[in-house]
Amino acid sequence: MSWHTRATTRRGEGGIVLVFSTSDKGGAGRSVTSCNIAYRLCLSGRNVAYVDFDFGSPTAGALFEIGAMERGTTTGGTHSYLLGECGTAAGVDVGRATDRTALARVGPRSGRLVLFPGDEGGAEFLACDDAMVTRCVELLVRLDQEFSVVVVDLSAGRSIALEIALNATAQLRQHTVRWLIFHRWTRQHILAASGLVYGPNGLLQTGAIYGHDRDELLGSLRYVRTAVPATNSHLSAQRAAQAAWLQEQDAALRRLATACRLGTTAVLGATPTEPVLQCREQLILDSDVNAHIANIETAQAYIELARRLIDIATWEGL
Ligand SMILES: Nc1ncnc2c1ncn2[C@@H]1O[C@H](COP(=O)(O)OP(=O)(O)O)[C@@H](O)[C@H]1O
Ligand SMILES: [Mg+2]
Repeated sequence: MSWHTRATTRRGEGGIVLVFSTSDKGGAGRSVTSCNIAYRLCLSGRNVAYVDFDFGSPTAGALFEIGAMERGTTTGGTHSYLLGECGTAAGVDVGRATDRTALARVGPRSGRLVLFPGDEGGAEFLACDDAMVTRCVELLVRLDQEFSVVVVDLSAGRSIALEIALNATAQLRQHTVRWLIFHRWTRQHILAASGLVYGPNGLLQTGAIYGHDRDELLGSLRYVRTAVPATNSHLSAQRAAQAAWLQEQDAALRRLATACRLGTTAVLGATPTEPVLQCREQLILDSDVNAHIANIETAQAYIELARRLIDIATWEGL
């Protein structure tokens, strides 16, 4: 197969973008959604790097169905790169390495999708030192020259991965940086996501320590609601009482999200509950939709998230 390169900056887009995906909780749909967004950006002609900085749980290889990297790599992973144990983080071309035939067969208008996997058997860092931050900056600067979008999947919560990213981006002022906070559409996830951003030792507070401007950081941050259940009784064949209850809960969650400053204006988008993803972590390809296995609404949600992520209008003042 061949991956073609195309001019990457178009009208309404702000050039090269560094995207950091985070969530307070594990299981928030951060990796699955981020991989699907990266894939959709690649299909639309952009060269995309996917960097696995979820050091304790590097799952991107499994999501892209690269058999040899299901749980990370044994050579040149991001964890050992940051520790200085290898000279460079190794990238693998997803189209060439994937075991999934339909994923290898992207069209001639697609860009390249390159995974920088984590280390197999890697673990969360216990501390962040200057040398690690410098290596992170160097990696991001290098990727920035090769790719139009760089998606970095961070470890959950107030992690060292998040600290490294905040520290590194404070040194990358001339770059376009976006932060995505993933959360499920439940009470606990909404409260947790809000805490991760606004709470003690959260993203804003830690960012300020490293020299970020609070308002600027807040302006570069959007929320992604994942696996949101359908409340339309016609579509999901719910019983009347169940549909009414779900609609009530949905309204209550909307009120809570607004009260927690995660309201509509700060939302990049949402994904619907997808039966395929309830059973298996994977990319939702158009072939899955055409085979009537995955819902078309799920594929559309990823396309829309990808579009909004690189649309300047999304990021103009809240
Ligand atoms: N839209 C969705 N509908 C149903 N399940 C989903 C959806 N998105 C993600 N999931 C599932 O949720 C689980 C957690 O997702 P994952 O991306 O691994 O979370 P995280 O990276 O935040 O820990 C996975 O089993 C995944 O398949
Ligand atoms: Mg994950």
